[in-house]
Amino acid sequence: MADEELVAQALKAREQAYAPYSGIRVGAALKVRDGSVFTGANVENASYGLTICAERVAAVKAVTAGHREFVAIAVAWDREGFCRPCGACRQTLHEFSPVMRVLMVSASGDYEAENLAALLPRAFNQ
Ligand code: THU
Repeated sequence: MADEELVAQALKAREQAYAPYSGIRVGAALKVRDGSVFTGANVENASYGLTICAERVAAVKAVTAGHREFVAIAVAWDREGFCRPCGACRQTLHEFSPVMRVLMVSASGDYEAENLAALLPRAFNQ
């Protein structure tokens, strides 16, 4: 699957966001080794700290379906500029695939690609 298709799925996944507090709708599309794609969206809570990001929704869906080798993730939002994963999501992705592609997408569909190893250098690891 081309990067552009993963980007399109992340943009589409924003539709499932539950974001009544921040108003920021984020979608993620995570490709695993066999080519399957798992999508996610941010899910907020009245107790703000319980919010879960789109990337971590996608990651737990993949892992609980038996997929631990991530190839690439696209992350999109409804704003200008590239949507960059937060530190918690970088660490969660790193747990399974320290070297993977991260496509950071703007609302218009433009994106920049970076490797997770560059986004989270010298990560915590046991
Ligand atoms: N958010 C994500 O979904 N992914 C990130 O990497 C950073 C932030 C969400 C969480 C919250 O619902 C909203 O964006 C504002 O922080």
